[in-house]
Amino acid sequence: MSQSKNTRIVLASRPKGAVTAENFRIEQATIPSPGVGEVLLKILFLSLDPYMRGRMDDAKSYAAPVEVGHVMEGGTIAEVIASNNPDYAVGDIVLAHSGWQSHAISDGKGLTKLDPKIAPVSTALGVLGMPGLTAYTGLLTVGRPQPGETVVVAAASGPVGSAVGQIARIKGARAVGIAGGAEKCAFIRDELGFDAAVDHRAPDFPEQLQRACPDGVDVYFENVGGAVWDAVFPLLNTFARVPVCGLISQYDGSGPSDSDRLPRLMRSILVKSLTIRGFIYREFADQRPAFLLAMSEWLRTGQVKYREDIVEGLANAPEAFMGLLKGRNFGKLVVRVA
Ligand SMILES: NC(=O)c1ccc[n+]([C@@H]2O[C@H](COP(=O)([O-])OP(=O)(O)OC[C@H]3O[C@@H](n4cnc5c(N)ncnc54)[C@H](OP(=O)(O)O)[C@@H]3O)[C@@H](O)[C@H]2O)c1
Repeated sequence: MSQSKNTRIVLASRPKGAVTAENFRIEQATIPSPGVGEVLLKILFLSLDPYMRGRMDDAKSYAAPVEVGHVMEGGTIAEVIASNNPDYAVGDIVLAHSGWQSHAISDGKGLTKLDPKIAPVSTALGVLGMPGLTAYTGLLTVGRPQPGETVVVAAASGPVGSAVGQIARIKGARAVGIAGGAEKCAFIRDELGFDAAVDHRAPDFPEQLQRACPDGVDVYFENVGGAVWDAVFPLLNTFARVPVCGLISQYDGSGPSDSDRLPRLMRSILVKSLTIRGFIYREFADQRPAFLLAMSEWLRTGQVKYREDIVEGLANAPEAFMGLLKGRNFGKLVVRVA
């Protein structure tokens, strides 16, 4: 792909059911010139995240959808390569939200300067970025794990789940991770130090989960929904807390089908005094400084480890994104754009 052009991936059509390659289109455009007060960004890394699936649909949600024909939305790490803005110099590395493209113009609003000496800059999209903040705030503010309690989290090898389990252990709780396949389970147990790992693809997954949680579940950090929720739900203890962070099993055109779940759920909320509380990380944006301080220290001491899954080249973003929705990523999924 030519570096003299802006390569961008646009939403070609809205998915009907699962996302397909036809829903994306690669375009080449002239690299724009920065106007007064603007900077030109060269994108180094693009974050691929589950929320992007929601942006492809024209459904009412907490954020507006991407319009058909527009560049797919996404967090990025970028280098300033031309600047008419006194706050940014050529060579600055910034966290931006410039989407699935190789270059972008910004007026500087919403950019955060990064210091590459502190941590690899890609971590600002993962453990030190939005997914890390989501794990930190959702677990500590909504889940409130206590020493000795059992915390269960699914998608446990991903950026949100892996941080949830490790922070739970730092707070003295027992961390049980749910992940797809033996390799991911071994990673969360042996490398990240989860107390137990259960494969949600195993035919006897509910029984294995029950054995891994002999004292029931006090905090279930919900990332997945569907069959995983069904297995966790009967294990919830009285006064259990359920931060509802994501429902990835329902994102890609396979919504809930079992309508009897609602009465069963409502009865348990009542008789077990459950707290089931949805959240979007932005609600807790004021905790970002405390999060960065704590997470940087945990990374320094090795109490939190992270894994990245880096895909080479913007053209491979659609395939990698479709893989994310099927569990083919292993760690924080990031595209190296340049
Ligand atoms: N509320 C917020 O503010 C907020 C912010 C960030 C993220 N989130 C949510 O947090 C969740 C995790 O995000 P992430 O960035 O850390 O993603 P991630 O773990 O890197 O990737 C998603 C993982 O979900 C698992 N998965 C996909 N389909 C599944 C299914 N049908 N059943 C069970 N597991 C399935 C796969 O892991 P396995 O192979 O292990 O199954 C896949 O690797 C998502 O639901 C996301 O929407 C919410």
